Amino acid sequence: MIQQDIALARPAELAIIVPTFNEAANLELLVDLVDKAIPHIRWELVFVDDDSPDGTAELARTIAKRDSRIRVLRRHNRRGLSTACVEGILATAADYVAVMDSDLQHDERILGLMLDRLKRGDVDLVVGSRYVEGGCVGEWSKGRAAGSMLATRIALKLTRTPISDPMSGFFMIRRDAFMRSLPYLSSMGFKILLDIAASAPQPIKVAEVPYTFRCRQHGESKLNSLVLWEYFELLLDKAIGKYVPVRFLSFALVGGFGLLVHFAVLTTLFVGLGASFGLSQTAATVIAISNNFFLNNMLTYRDQRLRGRALLWGWITFNLVCATGAAANIGVAEWLFGRHTYWVFSAVAGVLVSVVWNYAMSSLFTWRRK
Ligand code: GDD
Ligand code: MN
Repeated sequence: MIQQDIALARPAELAIIVPTFNEAANLELLVDLVDKAIPHIRWELVFVDDDSPDGTAELARTIAKRDSRIRVLRRHNRRGLSTACVEGILATAADYVAVMDSDLQHDERILGLMLDRLKRGDVDLVVGSRYVEGGCVGEWSKGRAAGSMLATRIALKLTRTPISDPMSGFFMIRRDAFMRSLPYLSSMGFKILLDIAASAPQPIKVAEVPYTFRCRQHGESKLNSLVLWEYFELLLDKAIGKYVPVRFLSFALVGGFGLLVHFAVLTTLFVGLGASFGLSQTAATVIAISNNFFLNNMLTYRDQRLRGRALLWGWITFNLVCATGAAANIGVAEWLFGRHTYWVFSAVAGVLVSVVWNYAMSSLFTWRRK
């Protein structure tokens, strides 16, 4: 292209953000399909890849070398669908942005309709909603279907706007509307659409375009039970994150679960097997602390998960932190009790002090940010 052509080439009006993780087999197909679907639109497509081991980013770069509409944003040492979408959107200048999965499950043929709908100017957001007939829904158990219904209901409360498919990962939004939500985004987990709608200072105006959800042909889904936990955290953050950090809530929840573990072990040993109280209580304490350590490492601090030798060292520091936390707990409770505080309140205060202490100290010594 000669200089003048480059200067005259008009920039894209639609940016399509496509998060990828291990999707090499789908990239070429996706670009082809998008190319065929919206020939009349000036678009660009940004793959946001988190260093996929299968070489997705290199392949995307190869495509980008022959097609200037394709770009790659490769992130290093990062994971996360929501943050990938946000950073992809921020890396473009287009007035309209779409977010779409790379696995061909979202129907690219409605992109044109979505853009037309947005351009009418009366809505900020167009959601591609899965309508079931003929589509790929997979086999849902009763429990999962009920869970999904409940999750959708809560989601609707938070978005304050009727969206029939608030969990959808396929949507198009005006940039100015996105920018209004940006400062309030939680950016946790998978549900970026829900996050954007729930973070809007004014309820966002939404239209929907139905499409048939296709089955994945290549590669595998990244949705696992951790994604459910992340969804739960996103809801918590949207509901009360303003007042209490979600990490702390997660830490406290794990601690609560640890208490159950403690009593399960204690009862088994002391009541069930007739071991001495001292031995049973010691075993219960050690197991409960280890339980809390591993759960926090998996859930609360999954973004900084310790492995190998760091795991052992983390376990040691966590034990020390909890031991000092227990001392603080007993100290505070006794001090209050000695000043005629009702025994239950004294105990609760002691527990609270130790939770806050353990949280603060383990974030300094066990899961220290590098
Ligand atoms: N960059 C990046 N980082 N991309 C990711 C990550 C990540 O950590 N995890 C997943 N992706 C990409 C996948 O490569 C894929 O392109 C897209 O995000 C969706 O992942 P899937 O693993 O295919 O998810 P799904 O099909 O189970 O869930 C989809 O459908 C749900 C229901 O409509 C997603 O669109 C969800 O957001 C949606 O709720
Ligand atoms: Mn998928």
